[in-house]
Formats: sequence, structure tokens, C-alpha cells
Amino acid sequence: MSVLSGKKIILGVTGGIAAYKTANLVRLLIKAGAEVQVIMTPASHQFVTPFTLSTLSKKPVYTNFFQSSGEGTWNNHVELALWADLIVVAPATANTLSKMANGQCDNLLLAVYLSAKCPVYIAPAMDLDMYVHPSTERNLIILEGYGNAIIPAEEGELASGLIGKGRMAEPEHIKHFLEDSLSVSLPLKGKTVLVTAGPTYEPIDPVRFIGNHSSGKMGFDIANELAKKGAEVILVSGPTNQNVKERNIKLINIQSAKEMYDACHANFEKADAVVAAAAVADYRPKHVASQKIKKNSEDFTIEMEKNPDILASLGIIKKQQFLVGFALETENEIEHAKMKIEKKNLDLIVLNSLNDKGAGFGKPTNKVTFIDKDFNLEAMELKSKEAVAEDIVQKIINHYA
Ligand code: PMT
Repeated sequence: MSVLSGKKIILGVTGGIAAYKTANLVRLLIKAGAEVQVIMTPASHQFVTPFTLSTLSKKPVYTNFFQSSGEGTWNNHVELALWADLIVVAPATANTLSKMANGQCDNLLLAVYLSAKCPVYIAPAMDLDMYVHPSTERNLIILEGYGNAIIPAEEGELASGLIGKGRMAEPEHIKHFLEDSLSVSLPLKGKTVLVTAGPTYEPIDPVRFIGNHSSGKMGFDIANELAKKGAEVILVSGPTNQNVKERNIKLINIQSAKEMYDACHANFEKADAVVAAAAVADYRPKHVASQKIKKNSEDFTIEMEKNPDILASLGIIKKQQFLVGFALETENEIEHAKMKIEKKNLDLIVLNSLNDKGAGFGKPTNKVTFIDKDFNLEAMELKSKEAVAEDIVQKIINHYA
């Protein structure tokens, strides 16, 4: 989920050719889960229609202080400004920049801007000579000085046919700029977290493997939640149907425990924390047949050898890393989980028991008990795996608080 989800955004559209791109910008912001209120300057109607932006934003578009019904209804600029979590002016023409820099207030958008207390983002767009004119440069400096964020214009072919800097930042870039800027204040910004998820597949021959029932959901939910809280996430996953939902998740797909071991060790040094939600096979076939095994005999035995314990190996070399393991148990749950904390040098273990209805593999829910390294216990009720992921991530946030 994007940090823009649930945000109330005023998109101010002014009269430049790049206004046609705001149709896509509105679509991207809405897709990210934001609520978008478009305010257009009169000049912008020449470049994109209010009907287009109203259809895409699913809201009436405002341009004037007074609504045309003639019943004295007005678009209250103060209310609009206070409603918004952020304002984006895109494209911002040289004319609008100048007015914003000098406190002019001859249209609804400018009145809303002057009334706003929320962060304001400005994406200038104009021809290259206008962009480098000293007055434009000065206006941008003034606007930045007022605390507004400038989304830099980009280089390329301009509507005039000239090539240079002045194009409005592409809608995708504006969206990423907003997301990056909003994530700065997130609690795990600057932290890197390594997460393992899913099952491992231990090959028997080219067509068969030994696996388990892990769907990967628990690990992916944790990765998505960590990313939502600003962390850079390295997600090492066995085969699953799950999807990453955030930009700041690097997914490394593996098959076997050995591959998961290698990927975890390659990324451990840069990690501040690790959450091991994967169901790793403890044993693998000692010999992997190079051809499909034929059913020639009545009995068939596979000799197995031990896989490395990934988490325990990280526990041995850990420095600053906060290590969170899982324990999936079927009996003597608490005792076994406590033993794993010690054996793997963990800071926290998330115990789930297959004896609890709705807990463990494959299901959308889980019921966990947290046990910290001092053996303090916290039993949680049955929750969705997304909510369990929130609880786990909160523990990591608390550790850094
Ligand atoms: O994927 P889902 O369908 O959503 O199901 C989620 C889950 C049940 C897989 C998850 O909640 C869970 O319990 N994961 C850990 C399963 C497990 O293998 O538990 P364990 O008690 O065997 O292992 C203890 C810890 O050591 C785990 O963090 C495990 O990732 C790790 N381990 C285990 C063996 C091994 N060779 N290397 C490891 O790193």
C-alpha cells in the first residue's frame, strides 16, 4: 500500500500545455488510494477539460469562488485548504509561480494556497528560457523559502519544439516524489530489514521436491508492512503466489534452503533487523537424481542430510541486528520456543501453534504469542495475518524508539 493511501490531496492545475498530463496524475493518485480534489485556474480549461478531471477524480472540479447555480453557494477556500493533507500544483506556470511567490490572490487556487497549513508541492512547467529566467529562478527560491517543495522540471522536448529543461515532471515521478517525501517521517525510514518467507523446495529429481504448506502470506504481509513504515526491505522468498505491494521491497526468489541461506548471508551485513517467517526444510535429499526416478521397485527410500539452520547461523554472527524468529510448534509450544530463542540467539520469537484454530499455514489468520529474549510472554488473539504483521513491525519500531 502506498503512503498516499487515505491522503486528501488538492491538485491545482494551471494553464500550461502539461495540464493534459494531469489526467494521468489524478488516475495514479487515486490508484494509490488518495482522495483527490482538483482545483483548476480558468486558463487551464484551455488545455484539459474539468469534465475529464472530474470523471477521473470522481468529484466536482472547482475553478470559481462561486458555484454557477446562482443560489449563493460558494467554494470555501479556507475549508478546502484545511481539508487537504497536501496540495500539489502541477503544472505550475511561470505566471502562477510569480503570483504564489508574491501573495497574489486572484483565483480560487491561489486563495486555497494562501489559506493552506499543509505541505505544498509545486511542479513547474514552462519553456526552457522561461524556466531559467532570473525572475522564475527567484520565485522558485522564494517559494522554497516559504517551505514549499519544488518538484524539479525535467529535460526533454518541449511543446515549443525546443529541447531543454522545463517539462513538468512525469506524473509517475510526481507520485514517487510525494511518496518519498511523505516516507521521510516514517518510523523505519533509513532501516533495512531482511525478511524470509514461504516454503523451501528441496529437489529429489528434476520433477520432484520435498516442500511444505507455507503459502508465504505471513512473510509477505510482514514485508509489506515494514515497507509501509519506511524500511528498505530485502525479501528472500521460496515459491509462492504472493505479490509485493510496495516499491521499497527487493524480492529475491529462491527454491532451496541452501539458496535461502546464501541470499540471507549476502544481505545480512546491511540489515538492521531480520524477520524469519519462512518454513525452511530441516533436511534435504542427500543425492539429487539427474534424471526422473523410475518406479521400478515397491519400496523407495530417500537418504536425507541436514540443511543449515539459516537463523541460527545469523544469530552467531549478528552485531547490531535485531533478530526475530518464528516458531511453528505442535506440542510443548512455549518450552520449544524458548529453546529456539537461546539456540538461535534471537531477540524475539513469534510462536504460532498448529493446535490453535486459524493459526499457521495457508490461512488468512494467525494467532501468535510473542516471547522476548528475557522470556516475557505476550499472547495475542486470533487476527488477520496483516494485523499480526502490524504487531510484529510495531515490536521492531519499539526497539528503535
Ligand atoms: O506462509 P504462511 O502460509 O502464511 O504460514 C506462515 C508460517 C506458519 C509459515 C509462519 O507463521 C511460521 O511459523 N514460520 C516459521 C516456520 C518454521 O519453520 O518454524 P520452525 O520452528 O521450524 O523454525 C524456527 C525458525 O528458524 C523460523 O524462524 C525459521 O524460519 C527458522 N529456520 C528454520 C530451519 C532452518 N533450517 N533455517 C531457519 O532459518
